[in-house]
Amino acid sequence: MMKVMISSIGIGLLLSLTIHNVCGSLYDPHVFPDTGPFFEGWYLRINDYDNEGSVGLLFGHVLPETSKNTTRSLVIASLLVRQCENASCKLLSYDGTYAISQLRVTVDGKPVTNDPDYESPSRFRWEVNSPSGGGYFDQTCDKTLFSFRIEDLVFRGEIGRPEPWSMSGKGPEGWLSALPLPLHWFVYSLRSELVSYMLVNVTSGTVIRGVNGSVHMEKNWGQSFPAQWIWSEGVQPENNASFALSGGLVALPIFSVNAYLIGYRNPKKNISLDFRPDDSIVNTDINGCNGTVIVTTKGVLHEVEFSLEASPNTFSDCLLGPESMGFRPACVESYDARATVRVFVRNYIPWQYTLIDQQTFHGIALEFGGLHVCNNKCNVKV
Ligand SMILES: *[C@@H]1O[C@H](CO)[C@@H](O)[C@H](O)[C@H]1NC(C)=O
Ligand SMILES: *[C@@H]1O[C@H](CO)[C@@H](O)[C@H](O)[C@H]1NC(C)=O
Ligand SMILES: *[C@@H]1O[C@H](CO)[C@@H](O)[C@H](O)[C@H]1NC(C)=O
Ligand SMILES: *[C@@H]1O[C@H](CO)[C@@H](O)[C@H](O)[C@H]1NC(C)=O
Ligand SMILES: *[C@@H]1O[C@H](CO)[C@@H](O)[C@H](O)[C@H]1NC(C)=O
Ligand SMILES: *[C@@H]1O[C@H](CO)[C@@H](O)[C@H](O)[C@H]1NC(C)=O
Ligand SMILES: *[C@@H]1O[C@H](CO)[C@@H](O)[C@H](O)[C@H]1NC(C)=O
Repeated sequence: MMKVMISSIGIGLLLSLTIHNVCGSLYDPHVFPDTGPFFEGWYLRINDYDNEGSVGLLFGHVLPETSKNTTRSLVIASLLVRQCENASCKLLSYDGTYAISQLRVTVDGKPVTNDPDYESPSRFRWEVNSPSGGGYFDQTCDKTLFSFRIEDLVFRGEIGRPEPWSMSGKGPEGWLSALPLPLHWFVYSLRSELVSYMLVNVTSGTVIRGVNGSVHMEKNWGQSFPAQWIWSEGVQPENNASFALSGGLVALPIFSVNAYLIGYRNPKKNISLDFRPDDSIVNTDINGCNGTVIVTTKGVLHEVEFSLEASPNTFSDCLLGPESMGFRPACVESYDARATVRVFVRNYIPWQYTLIDQQTFHGIALEFGGLHVCNNKCNVKV
């Protein structure tokens, strides 16, 4: 009898963990405040293992600083596509801009009336319609459908089961996401299953399709992107190791600090490490002109070293980022970066670090934002 009860509790736990593992989530939209600035934006990147290709999609909207007039776009959807010539690829962005009246954001088919929480399954739709195109992103737990037409490109697809950042529904910020920070970052999935996608040029008829790959899915919300930041994420197809990291200058009421959020996973070695400002010390060496970043993070038990690099000619021109007056050119990004990640465990007696994992990643995303862009090319003012 006792045994039966215990095992049914065990099954209940297992079930609830499984449910969290499948959906959960801050991925749903937030309620916009009455007065700006406030924005929310989503991002996904497909890693196509068979074509060794990658396509990105970002969309979002800004409620600008109240009492000021703005001429900037407030609603955008952008496709990020690699254009390759002579074995050298550069990332290009195709942007759709829309009026607020052309945007519809719903949760479960209704207007957004509550902020998302850690546990409820995500179920939202973000949609824009304009005479020249538009599209939608429809997200329900472990099924995502999207279709956008921007200029002469159509990008549509289906994404399956996510690989969440954590089973608790929390993202890289952990409990910090509850603080009123000026900017938030949530990773919904480090490598969702790619069911299928297609990218069509309706003018030329060129079609790229893929059915084998993974999809990184995340979002940001808050007042504005910071004055400077870096961001990177990648998956290793051979063993499913993955990472995502983001860091920048966070303006707090009295001072600004560079804060980093970092996650590394290697399921084959049962390694799952998160680092946040409240539990780790980070050192960085960032060079936007060389396209290089070194991030070393020390936690209580582990040290992880990320060495990221992309050829300067693979970076996009300035991409749009959300700021307090609307979207403006803000950052550059490459989908052709490489990373080497080394994981050390700290022994206290004797005092030493032991290398327990080393992985190399190819075709990862790397972004330099704001003042980290080479020569402040996107002309970000502090
Ligand atoms: C914003 O623009 C409107 C219409 O052009 C004008 O009446 C108003 O004074 C402007 N407000 C500010 C703060 O510039
Ligand atoms: C690619 O190679 C061809 C032939 O060698 C050359 O004509 C062309 O200019 C090259 N394109 C770029 C972008 O380097
Ligand atoms: C689509 O194809 C047309 C015709 O080849 C070309 O002119 C255009 O640049 C292509 N569009 C994109 C976004 O690549
Ligand atoms: C998908 O890609 C991975 C990584 O390249 C490969 O190992 C796997 O065999 C592919 N799966 C299929 C069904 O082709
Ligand atoms: C990677 O993960 C996916 C889904 O989580 C799984 O289907 C696939 O077999 C895994 N690949 C490897 C190499 O373990
Ligand atoms: C994996 O790691 C977690 C946390 O370190 C541990 O609780 C768990 O027992 C490990 N699982 C296996 C199969 O080693
Ligand atoms: C950047 O690249 C130049 C030229 O390759 C090199 O001399 C310099 O040391 C690099 N700087 C950093 C910080 O890596």
